[in-house]
Amino acid sequence: MNDLLSRALNSEPIERPPVWFMRQAGRYLPEYHVTRAEAGSFLGLCRAPKLAAEVTLQPLRRFPLDASIVFNDILVPPAAMGMDLDFVAGKGPVFADPIRDVAQLKGLKKPVIAEDMPHVLETIKLLVAEIDVPLFGFAGAPYTLAAYMIEGSGSRHFEHVKAFSMHHPKEFHMLLDTLADICAEYLQAQVDAGCSAVQLFDTWAGDLSTDAFEKWALPYAKKALAGVSGVPRLYFTRNAAPYLHLIKGIEADAYAMDWHVDIARARKQLGDVPIMGNMDPLTLNGPPEVIKAEVHRIIRAAGPTGHVFNLGHGVLPITPIEGVHAMVDAVREWRW
Ligand code: CP3
Repeated sequence: MNDLLSRALNSEPIERPPVWFMRQAGRYLPEYHVTRAEAGSFLGLCRAPKLAAEVTLQPLRRFPLDASIVFNDILVPPAAMGMDLDFVAGKGPVFADPIRDVAQLKGLKKPVIAEDMPHVLETIKLLVAEIDVPLFGFAGAPYTLAAYMIEGSGSRHFEHVKAFSMHHPKEFHMLLDTLADICAEYLQAQVDAGCSAVQLFDTWAGDLSTDAFEKWALPYAKKALAGVSGVPRLYFTRNAAPYLHLIKGIEADAYAMDWHVDIARARKQLGDVPIMGNMDPLTLNGPPEVIKAEVHRIIRAAGPTGHVFNLGHGVLPITPIEGVHAMVDAVREWRW
């Protein structure tokens, strides 16, 4: 088993950082489109363990990566809570009946992981029998899930979730608390099925004021991670810079940084906690020598211990495969 990820997350000496990237399976790979077409729909793909395992393996066949991440989506748990979810071409995830008043909260059920979301656990079991790199499990963090459930889709201003939090603070806290319990149970089930690490994606918390982040995002991300044991637990938000003085309060084992963050400064502010990141995904659209220089700049800035190389957010569908090769090669040739 490749132990580079575990050594990096334990801040042990490493000759180079491990490399994997968020959304490493997906639309930039032609073979993904073939398997997705076979599944018929995106949710169908998430719910077909053999096909989801196949899609997880696709980037590992192309690139010598040091970790993998189970193919799934953060919105599968809200769908298991009874929300009608669809993935609309060109629009992304859409909930047919978003939560806009407190009465709707009563309609949400607490999912039983093994019954309502057995697919992801089966996918994990298929994968761990086959791969020799660590497998990440993941979940959406409570604030980000609540934001999707209330907005109904991605949003520019997040006006519905912000209004809900102001009009119904008590009920919003209760929803976040319930989601934290579900996240913890869901992540632990993924660990028990064989995952070697977990990551909590709090993509939309990056839109909050620091005060709102402390109120709505931090305590519930902390609670979700506190309920998981046995493996390293990582936390990602897609705009970490404003919260660098706060996020250690989440008590994750490592923090993923987006590319707006100066990784050397983050290192100073966070102390000796391992960090992951943080190349701009669009760097992959540049020429190989530019990609290589940027990879090496980031590794140097992050320093010799406790760094996992990754992008600052998920890889985009427009990413050229040669760019990914250049990134992975540049990380692999680095020596401290
Ligand atoms: O990293 C991986 O390889 C594992 C797979 C993964 C997916 N979604 C697959 C996916 C992971 C970790 C996610 C997490 C996720 N999903 C997040 C958090 C991370 C982030 O990127 O911010 C969020 C916010 C979502 C919700 C979601 N699902 C969005 C916004 C979209 C894309 C909308 C679009 O069309 O651009 C999805 C769909 C989705 N999830 C795709 C993939 C490969 C594309 C679906 C397709 O095939 O059409």
